[in-house]
Amino acid sequence: MINEELKNRDLDVLWHPCTQMKDHEKLPLTPIKKGYGVYLEDFEGNKYIDAISSWWVNIFGHSNDYINEAVKNQLDTLEHVIFAGFTHEGAVRLSERLCKLTKLDKVFYADNGSSAVEVALKMSYHYHKNRGKEKTIFLSLTNSYHGETIGALSVGDVSLYKETYSPLLIANIQTPVPKDQSLQSATEALRSLEEMLKQKASTISALIVEPLIQGAGYMHMYHPEFLRGARELTLKYDVHLIVADGLEHEEKNRVKIYDVGKLDGRLNRIFKTTKNITLSSSSSIRARSSFFNCVICFCVSSPI
Ligand SMILES: Cc1ncc(COP(=O)(O)O)c(C=O)c1O
Repeated sequence: MINEELKNRDLDVLWHPCTQMKDHEKLPLTPIKKGYGVYLEDFEGNKYIDAISSWWVNIFGHSNDYINEAVKNQLDTLEHVIFAGFTHEGAVRLSERLCKLTKLDKVFYADNGSSAVEVALKMSYHYHKNRGKEKTIFLSLTNSYHGETIGALSVGDVSLYKETYSPLLIANIQTPVPKDQSLQSATEALRSLEEMLKQKASTISALIVEPLIQGAGYMHMYHPEFLRGARELTLKYDVHLIVADGLEHEEKNRVKIYDVGKLDGRLNRIFKTTKNITLSSSSSIRARSSFFNCVICFCVSSPI
């Protein structure tokens, strides 16, 4: 196999995600044969540094020995089992560890980041419905991104992805993200948030946020005070807070779960996660009653 051959065969039969395929008439695809550590390598031995961690999911590097070994062992023992009515040791062990790390009570697994957002939105709606409230609107931040499925797209704010599908989307309104990392901008954004909640909280099911950094929104960052304040306001107005993304960085080969609770002692047990150890994203939802504290996450297997 050579690079050119794979490129041509690809373009004959494939469409790639978040891609205008016309661009590839001029911009060549990059065929990859193998990956190790930070490197990817093509069929002619050219190396590339995977600086985007294969879209932010390869946080421990390619062909990580420890993870590969665990995945192989798992495949030889039990490759898959239906999770309704059945259980297995890996899922229970991973969930116990996630609950301990996040201080939340339950874990619910979805297949990817967008699905995790869908689950969180549905859970939030369902929770209010069970309490006799019909809350059909979701609130999100300007400049946010939460995925490509219809619900996740609805709560995002990147018009390039969203505009075409606007007639299909579920009800969503937006409140301004803090315009920069200053405390003053966080305070201003909290003022707008409270104004919105004062007027519309009876119809708003949840506020969904990417904590501290909006990745697809040009790595836009904001002050932690906004999260702390948003937590307080959502509690006050009986609106859930969905913190969508949480495994934010790596420390000495360990993923550190970004703990919103640490920002303020009063806010323990707030958290949710994403970008799990093996692969992709997760998000989760925190509601008022304790049975409802829940991490929703996606991971391909549970090799820890
Ligand atoms: C903040 C955030 N939420 C959700 C998603 C969607 O995740 P997935 O691509 O696994 O559906 C992404 C994807 O990058 C993301 O950055």
